[in-house]
Amino acid sequence: MVLETPNNPAHPVFAFAIRDGVLHPGGCDIRSLAQRAGPGGFYLYDAGLVRERLAALRQAMPADVRLSYALKANPFTPLLRLMRHLVDGFDVASCGEMAAALATGMASSAVSFAGPGKDAREIAAALAAGVRVVVEDIGEIDDIARLSRELPLARPPRLALRIHPPFALKQAGMRMGGEATAFGIAVDEIGAVVARARDAGIDIDGLHVFAASQSLDGSALGELHERTAELMITVAETHGLHPRWLNLGGGYGIPYAEGDRPLDLSAVMAGLARACDRLRGHWPDAEILIELGRYLVGEAGLYVMRVLRRKRINGETFLVTDGGLHQHLAATGNFGQVLHRSWPICLPEHLPEGIARSRGEPERGEERVWIAGRLCTPLDVFARRIILPRIMPGDLIAVCQSGAYGASASPNRFLSHPPPVEMLVG
Ligand SMILES: Cc1ncc(COP(=O)(O)O)c(C=O)c1O
Repeated sequence: MVLETPNNPAHPVFAFAIRDGVLHPGGCDIRSLAQRAGPGGFYLYDAGLVRERLAALRQAMPADVRLSYALKANPFTPLLRLMRHLVDGFDVASCGEMAAALATGMASSAVSFAGPGKDAREIAAALAAGVRVVVEDIGEIDDIARLSRELPLARPPRLALRIHPPFALKQAGMRMGGEATAFGIAVDEIGAVVARARDAGIDIDGLHVFAASQSLDGSALGELHERTAELMITVAETHGLHPRWLNLGGGYGIPYAEGDRPLDLSAVMAGLARACDRLRGHWPDAEILIELGRYLVGEAGLYVMRVLRRKRINGETFLVTDGGLHQHLAATGNFGQVLHRSWPICLPEHLPEGIARSRGEPERGEERVWIAGRLCTPLDVFARRIILPRIMPGDLIAVCQSGAYGASASPNRFLSHPPPVEMLVG
């Protein structure tokens, strides 16, 4: 994605329908959607774009690999109901996510519950529901052993071990392996965990590795799948495990900033196919899956706000909006990013000329502006000195790539403004 020139067909906004210069997510005029949403920032998720993304991914994936959707990326109920028919399973990380996943009608056997801090109440709920528990600590084995005795369970627990991989993915936005993080079980602790499970008569028939998030390096992700497969084989052979469920994780990223290039999916899939061949050589009938969040839904979402005020401070022009970091923390660069790089921003009522760029000089009718949220903190800034056509209070501003880690990953209660409205369209 290169955003230097307006009219750039690679800009993510062009994935959406545009009619007479006005954005029509899911075929609906964004001005009517804004009216329906009422005051305050709001999210739009385009169901057609989600379907397209899933169809293209399925086409590229090895036919025998299953796809799990990580609810943490976006747990909006109508979106989950759609995802239920497009993926093979759900990954959840809390009882709230588990309830939301099961409420869609997804079979409990296709839901897995991971997370480094599961308490006994959560483990009990997962076991009772028949959801697979991804064990991340030896203490969870003790809880599971006790709960299996105490609870009237309809079937033996479905369990997997999450291995803390000794390797990392260098180019990833976030790493869960290869360094000190709280996720999974260290390779040299696995023997003790397996022994504890055997002593308690508990069968562990799954392995899980989730090493990274937000990588745009297709070959590195492909290699990661291969290394993960080798790690699983080594762990299983060392500890006499016979896994039937092999979750290779994911980490597939989407382009957010100027200069980011979309993921080369073919490189990832080549590595995934090789990883599967290796695993199939050992366990021909095992279920092999990948677990993705943002790659499935991130590009189908827009965050939309209205300009409330225009003001000049220290020679700079500020557009203060009715949105803010309480509704979209990530787009203000405060969700774990080291460097703040503006997300793709546009004026959805004035396309294609209303595409923000940071380089060059303003042309006629354009100006250099800051886009600020409405919160009383200098952190609440979506963009600094971007070039846009001059707009006025009441006009709409949209942040693309906002379908993942948006509303649910923001401190909605900060300053007690209302939470954002969310809509699935199309
Ligand atoms: C265990 C696990 N699965 C899946 C995901 C989803 O990652 P992404 O949205 O980058 O695909 C994460 C992200 O943190 C995770 O920790």
